[in-house]
Amino acid sequence: MSQPPKQLKLAFFASGNGSNLQAILDACASSELDMSPQVVISNNSKAYALTRGQLAGIGSHHFSSKTHPHNLDQTILNTLLEHSVDLIVLVGYMKKLGDEILERFRGRVLNIHPALLPEFGGHGMYGLKVHQAVVAAGATHSGATVHLVDSEYDTGPILSQARIPLSSGETPESLAAKVLALEHRLLVETLQKIASGELELEGLKT
Ligand code: GRF
Repeated sequence: MSQPPKQLKLAFFASGNGSNLQAILDACASSELDMSPQVVISNNSKAYALTRGQLAGIGSHHFSSKTHPHNLDQTILNTLLEHSVDLIVLVGYMKKLGDEILERFRGRVLNIHPALLPEFGGHGMYGLKVHQAVVAAGATHSGATVHLVDSEYDTGPILSQARIPLSSGETPESLAAKVLALEHRLLVETLQKIASGELELEGLKT
């Protein structure tokens, strides 16, 4: 008889509000998603994502080049290992992960981007700037992308996408709100597929 898949332990990296983090925490709390949130790490001491982590009763840490000028990457890596993290989810994290962390977690780091990659991604494409570029380009559709993280911005293999049409008179702000709601669903659905084994990540195979 085959073994049931083990419950994957999650770490989150966030720099801001953390609404995507909340969507995952809520899905785990309601058992809609069979994964185990362990820890939130933020480079921003004021990130509401840290409060969300505390309210959920999981580890919540502010680690930055100011708090750890000499051993930031090692501190982050130690924290991930202490929590036996299987999978990392970047939910609005504005920093790059260090090389050693990427190496140790190769194929096990996901990012959510608020557009249909490979378009409208890359360095400097974040927040409202993405939606401003989409509207300015006259795109008929936008959406959200979940992808694996490599050492560049927004370039790793795409795991899933969701699309929505732009309405007439769409503004970057109205598009941002629509895409964010889409992101919450796409991220949870993608993690559900990973949890069930429908979506296999090479990096999770031992
Ligand atoms: C989202 O738009 C995500 O795609 C991007 O950063 C934003 C984070 O939003 N990477 P929130 O903090 O989850 O609300």
